Amino acid sequence: MRQRIAVYPGSFDPITNGHLDILMRGLELVDVVIVAVAHNIEKRALFSVEERKELIRESVNGNENVIVDSFEGLLVDYVKKVNARFVIRGLRAMSDFEYEFQMASMNRNLNKDMDTIFMMTSKDYFFISSRTIKEVAGFGGCVADFVPPIVEKRLKEKFSIK
Ligand code: PNS
Repeated sequence: MRQRIAVYPGSFDPITNGHLDILMRGLELVDVVIVAVAHNIEKRALFSVEERKELIRESVNGNENVIVDSFEGLLVDYVKKVNARFVIRGLRAMSDFEYEFQMASMNRNLNKDMDTIFMMTSKDYFFISSRTIKEVAGFGGCVADFVPPIVEKRLKEKFSIK
């Protein structure tokens, strides 16, 4: 039987426990999840794409159903290229919905063979975003509850915090 493949795209700058929660729950729906880091030219990133991929790899601890990759250009083209049927996105709050709805609708118009699966973020993580994590860590605040240990370590290194 054909493997059910989903792409979990995002900036992942850096990956958080909220992302990991969505990823693990996504793995219960499909056989393989490809975590795809977007080369997003509009956003100024703290970590390079290679660094972000490395952090994701270390955070998923060699789970063989997770593939870590990156993509440039349109998500729909990447989804086609890797033969995926689904895109997974997490929804934290109503404020995420409009943007996500637009993106999913546009993507579905561009590629009728794919669907976006939305998963509600767990209550423990609904207030987490990579942006707020970077802000808190940048000012020396503790983010240990919100990111994998390797990410906490790398954030401290980036911001030169002892
Ligand atoms: O983690 P993010 O920044 O919310 O992820 C956004 C991402 C990377 C999923 C989105 O910007 C994207 O898919 N970019 C690729 C370009 C694309 O396909 N754009 C069309 C969307 S309508």
